[in-house]
Amino acid sequence: MNRTTKFILIGALILVGLGAFLLLNQKPQESAGSGEPSVSLPVFPTPKEITIRNVTKDVVTYSLAPLGSKAKPIEKKLAAGAIDRVPTAQTMVVTYKKYGQDVTYSLNPGTPYSFRSDSSGQLDIWVGSHGQEDAEDLAPFVPTPQTVVAKMLEMAQADKDDIIYDIGCGDGRIVIFAAQQYGAHGVGIDIDPERIKESKANAKKAGVEKLAKFRLGDATKTDISAATIVTVYLLPESNELLRPKFERELKPGTFVVSHNYIVPGWEAKEVDSATVKDEEGTEHSVYLYKR
Ligand SMILES: C[S@@+](CC[C@H](N)C(=O)[O-])C[C@H]1O[C@@H](n2cnc3c(N)ncnc32)[C@H](O)[C@@H]1O
Repeated sequence: MNRTTKFILIGALILVGLGAFLLLNQKPQESAGSGEPSVSLPVFPTPKEITIRNVTKDVVTYSLAPLGSKAKPIEKKLAAGAIDRVPTAQTMVVTYKKYGQDVTYSLNPGTPYSFRSDSSGQLDIWVGSHGQEDAEDLAPFVPTPQTVVAKMLEMAQADKDDIIYDIGCGDGRIVIFAAQQYGAHGVGIDIDPERIKESKANAKKAGVEKLAKFRLGDATKTDISAATIVTVYLLPESNELLRPKFERELKPGTFVVSHNYIVPGWEAKEVDSATVKDEEGTEHSVYLYKR
């Protein structure tokens, strides 16, 4: 080995040693705040449950498939009153028959739905209010416009001696308005804890929390016998379901006032009806019954 080769070899050994030293003493890259080395893991969306309730009186046949999937949809049958629970992180497509034709509808994870019969007896799927097995789904949350609230209470001749029960109270607007406008006591019942929280906050904001009270629970199992006026904005089949409860619990002379839908089977008890326009000019019906 001549001097030049020896020199190159020693130089190469020094460089390799230096590289190894630098590599071994390199600080690991830190992830923000945690002090742990950053590791990127695949992110999977958390599955959320879709519930599909059968509120019709018959078995419902339908199929389900993830949106955009080429896989064969799963065929299903759901007994009257039953609930199908589908844990999924994906939008699902439900297919069912209406007027003999396939109809499809997209279902979002984390949302309750209900199969209901429409006014012509055809199967339809609607957003529901909850997926609890032990409670009825009376209607999804849709607030009554303020002009209609005012008309409902005027027709029921509300005054300070009244006790108003709103079955499925939503954001509490009916009992809050009754307290503000007439000084009446009221109880709003809703199955959705978010709605009850919102109602209580709205009552506080309006300064009527002493008059307007709110209860979380299934209204079909809540005692309403103290009411002098009952207000409902529920689907017709829910009004029908509640009718025996009204007959059992309400004192004779109690007013039941319903937004948009009749109380089936109470035709003889209807004492008044009206059409009211909301702030956008849409017409709403109000039906007044006397128990
Ligand atoms: C159409 S909204 C009416 C809200 C309010 N009454 C109004 O007119 O503005 C129906 C409400 O009923 C509630 N609901 C549905 N099923 C219920 C049940 N079994 N018990 C109590 N509330 C229920 C829903 O959460 C929803 O807030």
